Amino acid sequence: MSVQAYAVRDEQRPPDNLLLQVVQRGLRSQPKRLPSWLFYDERGSALFEQICEQPEYYLTRAEIALLDAHAGEIAAVLGSDVRLVEYGSGHAIKTRLLLEHLATPVAWVPIELSPEPLRLSMQRMEQHFPELPIQPLGADFTRPLRLPVPPRAPRRTVVYFPGSTIGNFEEREAAQLLRKMRGEMGDNGGILVGADLKKDRSVIEAAYNDRAGVTASFTLNMLARLNRELGCNFELGSFRHRAHYNAMAGRIETHILSNREQRVRVGRLQVLFREDEAMLVEYSCKYSVEDFAALAATAGLTVQHVWFDPERMFSVHYLTRSGSA
Ligand code: AVJ
Repeated sequence: MSVQAYAVRDEQRPPDNLLLQVVQRGLRSQPKRLPSWLFYDERGSALFEQICEQPEYYLTRAEIALLDAHAGEIAAVLGSDVRLVEYGSGHAIKTRLLLEHLATPVAWVPIELSPEPLRLSMQRMEQHFPELPIQPLGADFTRPLRLPVPPRAPRRTVVYFPGSTIGNFEEREAAQLLRKMRGEMGDNGGILVGADLKKDRSVIEAAYNDRAGVTASFTLNMLARLNRELGCNFELGSFRHRAHYNAMAGRIETHILSNREQRVRVGRLQVLFREDEAMLVEYSCKYSVEDFAALAATAGLTVQHVWFDPERMFSVHYLTRSGSA
């Protein structure tokens, strides 16, 4: 899922040759698959924000409702003088709800590869918290990070990973990522992570198959991006979106299906698609409270607290190192 480290440039993507390599490798593998970070070009990021406003997509509303109900208590558990390190910068609404309750935070460190979203969320945050030191880091958060030196000594470093983005990672990768966070936060640190809960299949599937078709556009936009950035010739009308809940694995599996047999140019590669062939583009894993505790344990972490929204759709977990108080 991760791209290799490279200097941040004034563009929203890795260098073309790396992008081409990633895409060719994914399309040569059997079954075909492409990494879900490819969704988030400018149009894809805008479409994702639209997804969050669809009536079926409960995740964002539930997480915000959770913070509305519990941010004060969460802030009390984290304590004063926290350095808040955020994986991704996103829309930063949730972060704002949290920061409003934190006592004398030391700094906010948003980590985001794409310069434009990073700049926007910093701007929004500056308006709300003019006194708060902001130390942005232009990096891929799945890679080892060197955090900036804080302006004063924090009581603890808390890694904040909202939005159920952890659900995009397969179990082994998710555990690896948590283990990496565990290293970065230090002995006294913690991880505050959002995770979508297992629930009725119909509710979950509706969230990824909204009636307005925004999610389908979001999915197929990946092909438009490859056409534009790599000169591919995907015919968007000849592919379709499918999101299916695999209850055994506890995850939404999103595929792009080929409507007919067809060939597509990807650099020098000609890729053959059979009729109805499915290409995997995203997992969105769902957790029970027990599932998440087990995942945390494999990364050397213990769940100190878990909070839910009033409708129990979504969860936020506070993790610390196992064995530490
Ligand atoms: C941003 C990863 C949380 O998996 O629910 C939404 C992305 N994909 N609809 C999710 C997404 C399709 C979303 N995350």
